[in-house]
Amino acid sequence: MQAITRRRLALGGIGLISALGLPRRATSATARSVSLSDGTVVPAVGQGSARLGQERRPAAEEEQAMSTGLSLGMTLIDTAEVYGGGKAEQLIGRVIKNRRDEVFLVSKVWPSHATRTGIQDACSASLTRLGTDHLDLYLLHWPDRVKDLAEVVETFEQLRAGGQIRRWGVSNFGVAEMERLWRIPGGELCATNQVPYSLADRKVERAVLPWCAQHRMPIMAYSPLGGEGAGVLRNPVVQRIASSQGRSPAAVALAWAVRSGRVIAIPESGSVSHVRENAAALTLTLGSDELRQLDEAFPA
Ligand SMILES: NC(=O)c1ccc[n+]([C@@H]2O[C@H](COP(=O)([O-])OP(=O)(O)OC[C@H]3O[C@@H](n4cnc5c(N)ncnc54)[C@H](OP(=O)(O)O)[C@@H]3O)[C@@H](O)[C@H]2O)c1
Repeated sequence: MQAITRRRLALGGIGLISALGLPRRATSATARSVSLSDGTVVPAVGQGSARLGQERRPAAEEEQAMSTGLSLGMTLIDTAEVYGGGKAEQLIGRVIKNRRDEVFLVSKVWPSHATRTGIQDACSASLTRLGTDHLDLYLLHWPDRVKDLAEVVETFEQLRAGGQIRRWGVSNFGVAEMERLWRIPGGELCATNQVPYSLADRKVERAVLPWCAQHRMPIMAYSPLGGEGAGVLRNPVVQRIASSQGRSPAAVALAWAVRSGRVIAIPESGSVSHVRENAAALTLTLGSDELRQLDEAFPA
């Protein structure tokens, strides 16, 4: 997967990849990417799945939306065993059935399964639902109620050695928890920390983002549009910048989230038209004046 990811994505230099079949020279033709610490390059905007496969829309429509996102370069897919009790993973399994090699696949284990056998069983069940033999990234979903973090790290490393996962990381970890992880043997092999991050929720800028930058670890930004209902998109400043750029408010909000080159945003949508808007963020760069206006509208 790593070689394929590099071949497909690492065409445009630091943080920029050629995509969408457009010429590489023009800014509008390059797609943003993020390098993981092992050198693997992934798109800066991927696709979430927390509410997919749960009959909010017809399944075929949601599958079409995700499939469109893959074709437009949002080839990182985020899921978790708990999303719809496994239904999101099943939906993804149908979408990637004949496209597994295009996808950087992320899933998560729930803390109540965070023991050696619990993680092994949860990982096997996720792989079965997803119809694949490996995950590209496996995350511990929350730190709370995890009795033995060292056992989690050891088990993740065993899964990595066995080929069921390519790398592992954490989610919803604060700085104290990251420090605790770093004190565990092998803890520094953690690939990412998935945290909430959007214009409307900039809390991680205080300590978590600087800590991860210092440790050369990209973060994954969840709820990058403000979560269910995508409230950020109704802000008049976001809307004004969007119309001056000829893009959607969603593209502006996502381009803002990934502006540093160290953040992977994972918006979720079950709508083809919304997915198209989100994918446009891969090729949108905001200017300093636009960033200043957004800072004023959404103070850090
Ligand atoms: N690690 C964790 O603890 C954690 C927690 C929460 C979420 N996550 C992950 O992060 C993903 C994204 O987070 P999220 O779902 O909370 O929030 P989000 O991506 O910020 O927002 C999703 C909402 O935005 C709407 N939307 C998406 N694109 C849009 C567009 N272009 N225009 C208008 N509305 C749009 C979606 O509805 P439509 O379907 O109608 O487009 C949905 O209601 C999740 O799916 C999950 O994979 C992880």
